Amino acid sequence: MLTKSQAKIFFLAGTIIFSVLFLGLSYDTHVNKHDEQTNADKITPEVVAGKHLWEANNCMGCHTIFGEGAYYAPELTKVIERRGAPYVKGVLMSPTPWGEYTSGRKMVAYGFSEKEANELIAYFEWIGKVDLNGFPAKPKYEIKKTK
Ligand code: HEC
Repeated sequence: MLTKSQAKIFFLAGTIIFSVLFLGLSYDTHVNKHDEQTNADKITPEVVAGKHLWEANNCMGCHTIFGEGAYYAPELTKVIERRGAPYVKGVLMSPTPWGEYTSGRKMVAYGFSEKEANELIAYFEWIGKVDLNGFPAKPKYEIKKTK
């Protein structure tokens, strides 16, 4: 058993060591790897426009990107890889709420123009190439992909 003062030292030393480690690793990520992992040089005006559409239409009210958002609808970080761009375009431009009969849930029928759909796709393509150290894990089942 630790004495009270030993426990105090153990607690303080542990807190200090791991705080320094945490701050050091955060610094390393932000200063050395951030632009490389996010492919910052590939953020085109189209990608930015897609991001604005993503924000303005509250897509995160139902979906997640990088695991952030709501869990009503599918995770979209790798949606282009999973589904293919033509499928995604169909969902975004659909005049009626898109939904596979298996899920029982429906996507909002935004009826985006082709330009807007392309901007959102550019955003998803960029998002899908960000190096997330393996996130999201590949599903164990196969989803049909349209080419
Ligand atoms: C009210 C909730 C809701 C909102 C808000 C919403 N979606 Fe969806 N979305 C869904 C649901 C539910 C599905 C799955 C439908 C299905 O395939 O059965 C879906 C499917 C999708 C898919 C296909 C995903 C896949 O893996 O099959 C894409 C892409 C998508 N949404 C993009 C968007 C974008 C972009 C926005 C914002 C402009 C948005 N969604 C806003 C509910 C929503």
